[in-house]
Amino acid sequence: MQTITTVAELRRALVNFRKADKRVGFVPTMGYLHDGHLALVEASRTQCDVTVVSIFVNPTQFGPSEDLSTYPRDFLRDEKLCRDAGVAIVFAPDAQEVYPAQFETFVEPGELAKPLCGAFRPGHFHGVATVVCKLFNIVQPDVAFFGQKDFQQCAVVRRMAIDLNLPLEIVTVPTVREPDGLAMSSRNRYLGERERQRALAISRGLFAAADEFQSGERNVERLIAIAKRHLETVDRLQYLELVDGDTLKRAETPLRRPAALCAAAYIGSTRLIDNVILAWPTP
Ligand code: PAJ
Repeated sequence: MQTITTVAELRRALVNFRKADKRVGFVPTMGYLHDGHLALVEASRTQCDVTVVSIFVNPTQFGPSEDLSTYPRDFLRDEKLCRDAGVAIVFAPDAQEVYPAQFETFVEPGELAKPLCGAFRPGHFHGVATVVCKLFNIVQPDVAFFGQKDFQQCAVVRRMAIDLNLPLEIVTVPTVREPDGLAMSSRNRYLGERERQRALAISRGLFAAADEFQSGERNVERLIAIAKRHLETVDRLQYLELVDGDTLKRAETPLRRPAALCAAAYIGSTRLIDNVILAWPTP
């Protein structure tokens, strides 16, 4: 495995893969890797010949009062996890490499970036779309892998790839959870032991609603109310919304199309997000 920190060096390393007609899979991350990230790597390993993982805590997607400076980092551990997982290249640029002086061109997502996290994290998806577009241009992968855990991010990135004619395939990988249901997240490490227990309210609420959906409930208000009962114990519920799976606009009763029940909540000072997809089994 190679660790590369500059765009020029990465391009040189990738030329050989391209010459050999290798299918390049790409997993963008902000590091502090866990089994959720590694599921994306595993998906890439099965679908591609070589896997590139980027580790870059992207400053443009953090708001001024967010956790950019304290975002958890452990590069040596990440490197080892990548090596053990069969990654070919770890791309770990610094901020100047990605945003050199005088950088001023951004990718601006549209309506999909407005609800849910977009409403509470102004500029977040503008930063995500910009860095993901740049990373796609740098790596030029055949396939890129994203986690369903960040459902809105997947929607924004997919839209961007279509709108900007980016020549790659986007694959969404299901959310990886702890055995008790908590969605894995680098931010889980902020949680104390009791907070960690209380954080379970989020996945429990979402699962309870998903169970009712499976039992035939199609009323949007009622499904939200079922989840809300569990979520009452979080310190601050930022949003709990049932949205259309494609448009991310509020779903309509009766549910007739795949939808996503999405939540963002604070446990102490830690903001966690999670979602479940409410969909019909494919025949
Ligand atoms: P990060 O939070 O590090 O996540 C990197 C990728 O891992 C994302 O696609 C995310 O959805 C996925 N992921 C995180 N937790 C997961 C889980 N429990 N199960 C499955 N997948 C999971 O998302 C970002 O970084 C950044 O916004 C990035 C796309 C790298 C742009 O800076």
